[in-house]
Amino acid sequence: MSQNVLVVYATKFGSTKEVAEKVGEIIGAKGIPVTVRKVNSVKDISPYSSVIVGTAIRMGKPVSEAVSFTKKFKNDLQNKSVAFFSVGLYMKDDTPENRDKAKKCLMPLLEIIDNPISIGLFGGKIDYSTMPLLLRWTFSKDKTGELSEGDWRNWDTITGWVDELLHDLRSSNVA
Ligand SMILES: Cc1cc2nc3c(=O)[nH]c(=O)nc-3n(C[C@H](O)[C@H](O)[C@H](O)COP(=O)(O)O)c2cc1C
Repeated sequence: MSQNVLVVYATKFGSTKEVAEKVGEIIGAKGIPVTVRKVNSVKDISPYSSVIVGTAIRMGKPVSEAVSFTKKFKNDLQNKSVAFFSVGLYMKDDTPENRDKAKKCLMPLLEIIDNPISIGLFGGKIDYSTMPLLLRWTFSKDKTGELSEGDWRNWDTITGWVDELLHDLRSSNVA
């Protein structure tokens, strides 16, 4: 089967979209046809051999549109190579404990597709200027420092994950 990859993203404030675009850019640079779309704008996944679903983590869960997409296309996805990635604050530091916490947040997706070819767990971004006023106020008042502004997306880590994923897709011969 010839390679054709769909990357979909579920975002609230745009940082997951930027990660999805980076993933698409890396795949495209290898000469593999790739489409990057907001998750709820996709109506048909039949043209694609592989699907990468990326989501922000909110309150310990994927963004609901990512779950709806995966549920809606469950049958089609079962015949394709599927990868998931998440973007969130739990992965500010890449430790085994944090990976565990971040992976648990993806359970609603893993309950639908339990054998993804790969799972990427990436750090996220907090930018108060993108938030509605009340949320911005709540985050900025946090005394623990855990909700402070910053960008923990590590582009080298993301690139490394995509390279490895492409290698796995080639080995499984269905990319
Ligand atoms: C209301 C809210 C709840 C969040 N909950 C979590 C969480 O439970 N776990 C986590 O790792 N990150 C959490 N985050 C951090 C976001 O996932 C992170 O900032 C991510 O980059 C946002 O992606 P987006 O810009 O695509 O929406 C939360 C952020 C907000 C604003």
